[in-house]
Amino acid sequence: MSDKALEDEVRAALATVQLPGGAPLAGYAGMSDIIITKGAIAFAITIAPGLEASFAPVRDQAQAAVSKIAGERKVMISITSDRQQAQKATAAPRQPGPPPKEPVKGIKSIIAIASGKGGVGKSTTAVNFALALQAKGQKVGILDADIYGPSMPKLLGLEGKPAMRDDGIFTPHEAYGLKVMSIGSMLEGDQAVVWRGPMATSALRQLLRETDWGDIDTLVVDLPPGTGDVHISLVQSVPLTGAIIVSTPQDLALIDAKKAIDMFARTKVTILGIVENMSYFLCPSCGTRSDIFGSGGAQETAKKLGVPFLGAIPLHMDIRERSDAGTPIVATAPDSAEAKAFMDIAEVVG
Ligand SMILES: Nc1ncnc2c1ncn2[C@@H]1O[C@H](COP(=O)(O)OP(=O)(O)OP(=O)(O)O)[C@@H](O)[C@H]1O
Ligand SMILES: [Mg+2]
Repeated sequence: MSDKALEDEVRAALATVQLPGGAPLAGYAGMSDIIITKGAIAFAITIAPGLEASFAPVRDQAQAAVSKIAGERKVMISITSDRQQAQKATAAPRQPGPPPKEPVKGIKSIIAIASGKGGVGKSTTAVNFALALQAKGQKVGILDADIYGPSMPKLLGLEGKPAMRDDGIFTPHEAYGLKVMSIGSMLEGDQAVVWRGPMATSALRQLLRETDWGDIDTLVVDLPPGTGDVHISLVQSVPLTGAIIVSTPQDLALIDAKKAIDMFARTKVTILGIVENMSYFLCPSCGTRSDIFGSGGAQETAKKLGVPFLGAIPLHMDIRERSDAGTPIVATAPDSAEAKAFMDIAEVVG
């Protein structure tokens, strides 16, 4: 069946689902586009803030109706509340107050890895920090929340899609003892570009909540760069232990790091501290240290902003090569000085 024909069937199925006021979901103005990929049928339903509870049965009915025609595809439907979008949608009476943050079953602590700027080493830090926590005896998971540019399949050498149980719940990938979920495992080629706005937050919600994480001490969340909708959705929907901000030592990266810190502070998320990545260069042949970017900037920024400084990671070819090969340094060269730098951070935070 073509994607278009399947989309028509999905709409027909949604015509059988009733909104709280009795109208069919199919014509509801708060419906996002219906995204159909090889592995999934996904859409979001935008509602007025505060109406989450009354829309929960709508989501369940829609899930059941679409699942009947979805075949092998995973059905991913989420409810998102967005003031502006919701005002355009049919108005149901509004109830005050934001929805409560819901913990994720089995997960004791969630730590987000963030940065203002792209390419500073968040994903590298997320993986190696997670492995370092594990080396200290914790049970650890990683959620790759970088919906737009997922890295975990490459960094951890994940292959294929995660398994799905009969009830539609994912069983996470396992790599080096870590439980891992990444949107990158669900997509083929360049499909990642379709996950925007409510779709991105919808995908994140499902990866987080419709996965059997088992019992986990810490879930490390690798965020996209900046302070966009994925960040806001995460901080609003789930209680976080805190955020670790990764920055390189240059001024420009630090300005962006301050923006990220500000965003978390405004949303009342604890800043666990700043990591300075690519802090100094350790010559692979002679071991000499050179501060090529003028190391120490992040430490000064941390001091000025009154947040902890967690440590410095050297710029080292081995870190990049092992990341690219899907063999992260803390797992494959645990005794190296570079791996120790990540272990030191886990000592402070874990
Ligand atoms: N300390 C380091 N030494 C050498 N190379 C590094 C180091 N940290 C990261 N890299 C390399 O820099 C590149 C960017 O790192 P990474 O993907 O972790 O950054 P990111 O902040 O997650 O990027 P994005 O914003 O695109 O998600 C990768 O090729 C990675 O291997
Ligand atoms: Mg990344």
